Amino acid sequence: MRLFVAINPPRPTVDGLVAVQDDLRARVTRGSFSLPDNLHMTLAFLGECDGARASAVLAAIKSAEFDRFTMVVDRVGCDRHHGRELWWAGVADCRELMQLQRNLAGELLARDCDFDRKQFRPHITLAREVETTALPWVVDEFSWPVTRVDLMKSERLGGRLTYTPISV
Ligand code: 2AM
Repeated sequence: MRLFVAINPPRPTVDGLVAVQDDLRARVTRGSFSLPDNLHMTLAFLGECDGARASAVLAAIKSAEFDRFTMVVDRVGCDRHHGRELWWAGVADCRELMQLQRNLAGELLARDCDFDRKQFRPHITLAREVETTALPWVVDEFSWPVTRVDLMKSERLGGRLTYTPISV
């Protein structure tokens, strides 16, 4: 199974992100938009794992304890990804978030759980394969309390990319 560790926003935040996606949609000529249920922030991408590895990742998540903190969405930006544009919602600088990701990375490595070690750049993917002449913009800030981190399974079900929290 294909796994990653993520922070999943609560429903009111998903609604806020969907509103941002609507603003983006109005500015693009083309784009594949993330489904509302799939909006998340990845902390670590593991890729293909077996059950034993999934258990080790769950143990790493448990050990990477943190105090509840607030995440603030404040802008929309883009990156080039394999020659196509990926547009994301960005968050205000957040020391607790960076510390959580560092702790998680340490706990994963301590358990030999390899993950994509590109530099962590916190973002919530809104749309891929975007064609637009739009420029990044600042949004009216909205925030949510982060209280948990989830291990997610990524799979195609009925042709649809589906992310499911797992707790083996
Ligand atoms: P992205 O949205 O910026 O592409 C599930 O694929 C999640 O893992 C996505 O949030 C994706 O980030 C992230 N991810 C990080 N590294 C990845 C990789 N090497 N391959 C696929 N997804 C990756």
